[in-house]
Amino acid sequence: MHMETLIRIGLAAWLLASHVAHAQTQSGPAPDVGAGKKRAAVCFACHNADGISRIPGTPHLAGQERHYLENALRAYRDGQRQDPTMNAMAKPLSDRDIVNIAAYYSLQNRMNNVQTAAQAVDAK
Ligand code: HEC
Repeated sequence: MHMETLIRIGLAAWLLASHVAHAQTQSGPAPDVGAGKKRAAVCFACHNADGISRIPGTPHLAGQERHYLENALRAYRDGQRQDPTMNAMAKPLSDRDIVNIAAYYSLQNRMNNVQTAAQAVDAK
C-alpha cells in the first residue's frame, strides 16, 4: 500500500475516533424522559405531545435522533440557529432540560404517531 493511502486511512480512523469520543463526552448522565415530558408541555401547542405537529410549517419531532434534537435546541438557545419562535422557546432551557426533552421526543414512534394524527384528522 502507498504511504499516502496509509496516512489517509489513519486520518479517517482518527477523525472517526475523535468524533465518537466527542459524542460520548456530550452524552453525560442518563436522560430523564418523564422530566422531559413535563418540561416539554410548553412545546405541545406546536409540536404536540406525540411529537407530530398539526401545524403546517412546524416540524415533527417524534422519533428524531436524540443528539440531533439536542444540537438543534442548543443552537436555537445559543443563537447559532435563527428562528424567532424557537429562539424564544429554547432560551429558558438548561442543558439538562434539553437532554431530557430530546430523549422524550426521540423515543416516540413516528409512524404510529403519524397514523394516529391522520385518524384524528379523518374523524373530524
Ligand atoms: C409557537 C410554536 C412553537 C412552539 C411553542 C415550539 N416550537 Fe419548536 N419549532 C417551531 C417551528 C415553526 C419550528 C421550525 C423553525 C425553523 O424553521 O428553524 C420549530 C423547530 C423546532 C426544532 C427543530 C427541528 C428540526 O428538525 O430541526 C426543535 C428540536 C424544536 N422546535 C423543539 C421545540 C421544543 C423542545 C419546544 C418547547 C420548549 C418548542 N419547540 C416549542 C414551532 C414551535
